[in-house]
Amino acid sequence: MELYLDTAVIEEIKEIASWGVLAGVTTNPSLILKSGRPFEPTIKEICEVVKGPVSAEVTSLVYTDMIAEGRRLAKIDDHVVVKLPTTVEGLKACKVLSSEGIRINMTLIFSANQALLAARAGAWCVSPFLGRVDDISWEGMDLVREIAELFAVQKLNTKVLAASIRHPRHVTDAALAGAHIATMPLSVFKMLVQHPLTDIGLKKFMEDWAKVNQ
Ligand code: E4P
Repeated sequence: MELYLDTAVIEEIKEIASWGVLAGVTTNPSLILKSGRPFEPTIKEICEVVKGPVSAEVTSLVYTDMIAEGRRLAKIDDHVVVKLPTTVEGLKACKVLSSEGIRINMTLIFSANQALLAARAGAWCVSPFLGRVDDISWEGMDLVREIAELFAVQKLNTKVLAASIRHPRHVTDAALAGAHIATMPLSVFKMLVQHPLTDIGLKKFMEDWAKVNQ
């Protein structure tokens, strides 16, 4: 499972890219707002740092406008993946844009049938928002697992991108459920590497090493 950062903050992207584990980035209109920076130049800058898929979301709601916006976003950089909402209009735009060779991330997926429709419309990946499912007291990971199984049984090439990840356990479970990609905020990325026993073990090694040198 590849690891993506869910942010539009360039400093955060540079930080995780420096770890050597960052495969891509996802953004959405809320994350662009949070970054406080203009949309398209930010996407361009992210693509220069990451050299992997960078999702940029359209904000039109009508498919003809989505297509125009998607084409414009795709021209920013070869790494851009156009993000479309999973609506009837989004499906129509997905079919057209994917047939032109533009990679599509169908977002705001909350059911396996939405994922199936997105795959049939030619999506490169689908984004089930598992944390938001957990938020309403359902089991978000069941959704990820069901979509991954459905795509495997049906031999669909569309990738499952586990989104709306809230904590490290989501990352492990998404990988075990068969997600191809997980996107998470910086805070979760940082928690992935931390373990108190690593800190305690390292401290002891350093103390003992200091004695060897004496
Ligand atoms: C993914 O592409 C979305 O931007 C994101 O994961 C949504 O996460 P949230 O539910 O924490 O806003």
